[in-house]
This record gives sequence, C-alpha cells and structure tokens, in this order.
Amino acid sequence: MALYQATVSAPVNIACIKYWGKRDTKLILPTNSSLSVTLDQDHLRSTTTSRADPSFDKDRLWLNGKEESIEAGGRLATCISELKRLRAVVEAQNPTAPKLSTYSVHIASRNNFPTAAGLASSASGFAALVASLAALYELPANPSQLSVIARQGSGSACRSLFGGFVAWEMGSAPDGSDSLAVEVAPREHWPDIHALICVVSDDKKGTSSTSGMQRTVETSPLLQHRIAQVVPARMDSIKDAILRRDFPTFARITMQDSNQFHAVALDTEPPIFYLNDVSRAIIAIITEYNRAAGAIKAAYTYDAGPNAVIYAPKENIKEIVELLLRYFPQAQPFPDPFALHVDNQGSIP
Ligand code: PMV
Repeated sequence: MALYQATVSAPVNIACIKYWGKRDTKLILPTNSSLSVTLDQDHLRSTTTSRADPSFDKDRLWLNGKEESIEAGGRLATCISELKRLRAVVEAQNPTAPKLSTYSVHIASRNNFPTAAGLASSASGFAALVASLAALYELPANPSQLSVIARQGSGSACRSLFGGFVAWEMGSAPDGSDSLAVEVAPREHWPDIHALICVVSDDKKGTSSTSGMQRTVETSPLLQHRIAQVVPARMDSIKDAILRRDFPTFARITMQDSNQFHAVALDTEPPIFYLNDVSRAIIAIITEYNRAAGAIKAAYTYDAGPNAVIYAPKENIKEIVELLLRYFPQAQPFPDPFALHVDNQGSIP
C-alpha cells in the first residue's frame, strides 16, 4: 500500500522591523509590514512529518513528542483545512491523483533547539507544518503563496518560508491574499552577517504576543504613530541597506526598531515589559562597543522576551563574545559559539 508522507524542516527568523499589531485577528493581517533575517544555524529548525492515511479517524498533532489538541476553528485547524482545500483543487484537475484531501492527517513536529533556548518556536513550527503538508499534497505553490497560509498559523511564520532577508508585506486586500512574505535578498547576497543569540532567560514569557498585540492596538497612541509615520520609511531604508550591504544603516534601523517596539509595549495599558536588567545591560554593552569603535559594529534586537539577538559581521563576533564574557563570566556557549547562555549571575554595567 502506498505511504503518503512528507518531511520538511523550517528555520527560525528574527525580525529587524517588528510585526506588532493585527488589523484582522482571524486572518492575522498586520497593522504594519515587517522584515526579518532567517537564521541559518542548523540547530535552530523545526522539522515536521505529515502523513495522510485512510485509516486515520481524525487529524492529530504531536509537538516534541507530546500530543496537542487541534481546536475546531483554531489556527492549526485553519492551516490544515486551507491546505486540504488546495489539495482538492489538484485532485479535481487530475482525476488519477489519490484523494488525500479526504484522509485525516497525523503531523509530528520537533524543534532541534532546546525549549530552554527561550526562542519562539511558533515561526519555524508553523512554517514547517505548512511546508510539509504542501509537500505531502504536492501543491504547485511557491513560498509566497504558502506564506499566506503559514501567516494564519502565526504571523511571523510566514517569513520562515524563505531563507535570507525576508519582508512580510502587510497588503491591503480584506481577504488577506496580498499579505505575504517575499524575499528581499537570499542569504548568499550577504553571508557575512551573523546572528549571536544571547539567552537571558528561558522562562516562558509573561504576556503572549497575541494578547500583548491586542492590548497595544487598543490602547497605545504611539503604535498609531509608528504604523503610519515610522515603519513605511524604515522598510524602504532597510531594504535599500540590505541591497547595498550597508551594515551601519542596517544595524541602526534594527536597533531603532527594537527600541520602538519595546517603547510601544511600555505605552500599552497596562504596560508590558519584555526586557529585564540583563537585556538592558546588553543594550548598554553594545552601545558602548559601537561608541568606543566610532562605528556601528553590532546591532541588538529583542522580540517579546528578554533574550538578545546580536547581528554583526562575522569578523566582529569573537570580539563581541569576549566582551559579553567579561560582564557575564558564567555565560555558557549554548549550543555552539553563536549562542551564549547569559544568566543573571554576571555584573551589570
Ligand atoms: O508571530 P507572533 O504572534 O509570534 O508574533 C511575533 C512578534 C515579534 O516576534 C515580537 C516580532 C516579529 O516580527 O517577529
């Protein structure tokens, strides 16, 4: 009997221009466009296997070996049913194609980075899930088309369908058909940029991105300024900097946008604090590193949590690690030299 199964892995991405705010919470349409770098470390990926079989009685999903429920009408169910709908189109066009759209699926997903890395796994997780079902169903869809579906699982997941430098264009169509990810430049365009991940805390974040965004959209006047006045120009400038491989401009915009995202979190009622004292210490260390050099040699950025990601040309990474180790002598390389586990045992400058 034929085995209908596909396995695909997808990487983590970290935004330089942050997505924060939904204009449509069901379709996950953002209030602003965003831009990220897909990390190419081999150990920062989600790998997902999907299998369709007529003997399965319902769709089921296992995450790192533990079964998760698929709620009717929820994000997982939406992604699965969208992909089955596209499979049904393939079957209608090709009457000999097996009727996989009518079978239930079993999906098993694993992150190869420790949960303790404190990295959000929803982006790589939903990207791998969508890509594995698309492979199983042999859909004639390109990554941008699949990103429209991954977006409905977790907004930032749409960007993990590409490597390199990726924009999520917010779009304007009410059905979300033009809110999708596009490649700005492939990784090979600028291989010199590296990401150093500083794990500050592996605690689960206090305010989820979903509830945090909703509160910010409802209460923050600064968000309205950000989405109307700031992000559109920043998107243009950072794309241009990437295409010209202009690190100082790329880095300055990345730091400004991280700072504004956390300012918007603070402008929310009640306020949301994602950074802690160690995060702020790392901001001070990188700021001083750049000031002392008289040039921008590194950029920090923080998502909805205290962990830092530092973007820098490869030649500066060793120096930056040594600098951080001076302040945080107990920091452990975790799980390779491009990730440091910085606990709060160190000295905060
Ligand atoms: O896709 P979500 O719901 O996990 O939201 C991600 C939000 C940020 O990580 C803070 C920013 C971004 O663009 O990835």
